[in-house]
Amino acid sequence: MGTSMRSWMAVLIMVWLTLVQGIFVAVDATFNYKDALTKSIIFLEAQRSGKLPPNHRPQWRGDSGLDDGKLANVDLVGGYYDAGDNVKYGLPMAFTVTTLAWGALAYHKELHATGELPHVRSAIKWGTDYFLKASSRKNRLYVQVGDPVLDHQCWVRPENMRTPRTVLRIDENNPGTEIAAETSAAMAAASIVFRHTNRTYSRRLLNKAKLLFEFAKTHKKTFDGECPFYCSFSGYNDELLWSATWLYKATTKPMYLKYIKEEATSAAVAEFSWDLKYAGAQVLLSKLYFEGVKDLESYKKDADSFICSVLPGSPFHQVYISPGGMINLRDGANTQYVTSTAFLFSVYSDILAEHNQKVQCGNQAFDSTRVMAFAKQQIDYLLGSNPEKRSYMVGFGHNPPVQAHHRGASVPVMSTNTIVNCGTSFANWFNKDAPNPHELTGAFVGGPDRFDNFVDKRWDSSKTEPCTYVNSISVGVLAKLATDGRV
Ligand SMILES: *[C@@H]1O[C@H](CO)[C@@H](O)[C@H](O)[C@H]1NC(C)=O
Repeated sequence: MGTSMRSWMAVLIMVWLTLVQGIFVAVDATFNYKDALTKSIIFLEAQRSGKLPPNHRPQWRGDSGLDDGKLANVDLVGGYYDAGDNVKYGLPMAFTVTTLAWGALAYHKELHATGELPHVRSAIKWGTDYFLKASSRKNRLYVQVGDPVLDHQCWVRPENMRTPRTVLRIDENNPGTEIAAETSAAMAAASIVFRHTNRTYSRRLLNKAKLLFEFAKTHKKTFDGECPFYCSFSGYNDELLWSATWLYKATTKPMYLKYIKEEATSAAVAEFSWDLKYAGAQVLLSKLYFEGVKDLESYKKDADSFICSVLPGSPFHQVYISPGGMINLRDGANTQYVTSTAFLFSVYSDILAEHNQKVQCGNQAFDSTRVMAFAKQQIDYLLGSNPEKRSYMVGFGHNPPVQAHHRGASVPVMSTNTIVNCGTSFANWFNKDAPNPHELTGAFVGGPDRFDNFVDKRWDSSKTEPCTYVNSISVGVLAKLATDGRV
């Protein structure tokens, strides 16, 4: 064989290898998004507190918190535990419901096509039924059940807890603007979801949402009741804008638009989270801007700025991306930023596509395809396209986590009469280096650190603890990926 022939063969082999590799990469990056979507919603079911309905899916869960509210002579049975503990925190619970409702609205067709819409509606209603109880009296909102300090001293499943179910509330003498406004946003967004399925219920939610917004903006005080677990670092201006935006979407009443244009404050940010909601409001308002609502241009610019500061390749890129490609804002439940960014990118990509627009970042323009590709890449990272080559969703994909930091899943089912010794509970179940006895199906765990390193140990809560809002925000984008533009 001549030299030229040999080099030809070498080129051919290289081309072939590249192709094969390309196919492997493509296969590697394609997941069963429908399965991930189904499971993501099942996790939210596992977080339910109260009297569970007969069709409840995680079989290892039972009724819990049936006396919640009794200490204050109110009925606060129901709602969600936020994460791996047994406290019902109002601020993240409301954000979970708002973002789930947003997913249901933005991806209604996709959720319908996958058959998941009824599950999403019931997950939203599980939250809003609770908020209706918690807001039954005007200018009063019950915002927390459970004692975080004592709860954290006992590794017990909610079905067996005997820790105090202390009740916190806000009212005119002790306001909490963030939590009142977020609960208002949740109820306003949910009122749109139920508009065509249950008009009476939808109206009730909307009325409460209006009252809570009024209460939030006339009694301004930062809410610190859930510190140190859910301290609002960003203040309440973002929640007020967010709530007004949802109320405008739900009512189209000029008073809310006027508030948005004339009174609300906004800021360019690179994060969307239970604490910081500006970017979410900006994306929602950009849609209205493109649809012709006047004087919203500054919000559209801020939404562009969000994209430009997150997207790698943008000249204004400022968010840290791990070597394996994952957004990392801070270690500890970092996956919340991964799913929230993926969701906003996905929704913004739809808006760009619909109005034939691009995001201009300095001298670079990014179209809807590029914006969506980043959303997909972030979700794919969590589902298995990462340096550890493992899934970060419990019960999904290759080598998923088995030691989620979660009381309910890590303690075996026992009779509800069993009194658990809090002192020995940690030795018995928390420190046990073995898979959880119950699979916490669908939970995205806290995830790897900024160098893509992960350890599947229950005691490393920053990596293995799940949170409802990590999943709620993922639902819409998973539905979009599951249907891949086919609806
Ligand atoms: C509407 O919702 C309310 C409150 O949950 C419920 O009592 C009622 O039966 C619902 N109506 C319909 C038609 O589903």
